[in-house]
Amino acid sequence: MTHSLTIRRPDDWHLHLRDGAVLNAVLPETARHFARAIIMPNLVPPVVTGVDAAAYRDRILAALPDGMGFEPLMTLYLTEDTDPEDVAAAHASGLITAVKLYPAGATTNSASGVSDFRKVQNVLEKMAEIGLPLCVHGEVTDSEIDIFDREAVFIDRVLDPIRRATPGLRVVMEHITTKNGVDYVRANDTDLGATITTHHLIINRNHILVGGIKPHYYCLPVAKREEHRIALREAATSGDARFFLGTDSAPHIDPLKENACGCAGCFTATNTMSCLAEVFEQDGALDQLEAFASLNGPAFYRLPVNDATITLTKGDAVDYPPKIECDAGDITVFDPGFPLHWSVSA
Ligand code: DOR
Ligand code: ZN
Repeated sequence: MTHSLTIRRPDDWHLHLRDGAVLNAVLPETARHFARAIIMPNLVPPVVTGVDAAAYRDRILAALPDGMGFEPLMTLYLTEDTDPEDVAAAHASGLITAVKLYPAGATTNSASGVSDFRKVQNVLEKMAEIGLPLCVHGEVTDSEIDIFDREAVFIDRVLDPIRRATPGLRVVMEHITTKNGVDYVRANDTDLGATITTHHLIINRNHILVGGIKPHYYCLPVAKREEHRIALREAATSGDARFFLGTDSAPHIDPLKENACGCAGCFTATNTMSCLAEVFEQDGALDQLEAFASLNGPAFYRLPVNDATITLTKGDAVDYPPKIECDAGDITVFDPGFPLHWSVSA
């Protein structure tokens, strides 16, 4: 039985750090284990220009505690007014690593997202030309479409047409939650990848709803039926280079989660690597953890893998704080619902 596993230092290919007090509280939780992360731009107001991204990157680096290393990989929030030349300049200078597409109204702070996809076609064509990946929140926002079907419908109605209209565009389907998403990635070429979150490997929709509403398990895309969770587990543990870790760790202070209209997001930064080691061990796939967390993402983004390593060691149940203290209010850490035995050391 494996008791210790050393892997390249992982990266998080989808992370929310927010700003101000929340940024200060959550950044060390990620930087403790991860070398880099793709930083989501859905602030209020969103990070839409190269100037915005540079200022946000400076705020993140200023919040990093002394002695911690971490590289934020910045993104721009795509709007119908995004200037392709601004995107190209931000990419050429090395400032941004991707552009994020939110369908308007799909999730937290997405009001400035895209309603008419024809209006961003010029930006997408520029991105295909310069090889800049598009990160996609893949849910339709149509009120007639059942929330549990929104990812599958998005693939057919929006994503596939965009990819056909924009040859060469490199796309990451963010936080896939369905077998449909897994199958769509598998059926396509290496210009298409997908991130999978820690929590979607662990919870299905019963965890949110059975025995009372559990607001800390509510996120978007919402967790689906068990068959979909199993498909995600198979994809993540398969070693297929098109699937990689994007935690979508999305902090909201407890009063905003434990609320009559609770915010979407699971905060997993603190215990993600311990959770993943447990998941991969349960599936007899510890040998694939490094591919999922540390190798496949850099390969898709055409970046070097990290030289540093982390070591996961199996022992007694690991203690992690149930909440992170923050000047704005506590932030509850994701509870996987089972004990974690793998501790992480640098
Ligand atoms: O659960 C989520 N929370 N999903 C998203 O797409 C956004 C995120 C957030 O920003 O809170
Ligand atoms: Zn997200």
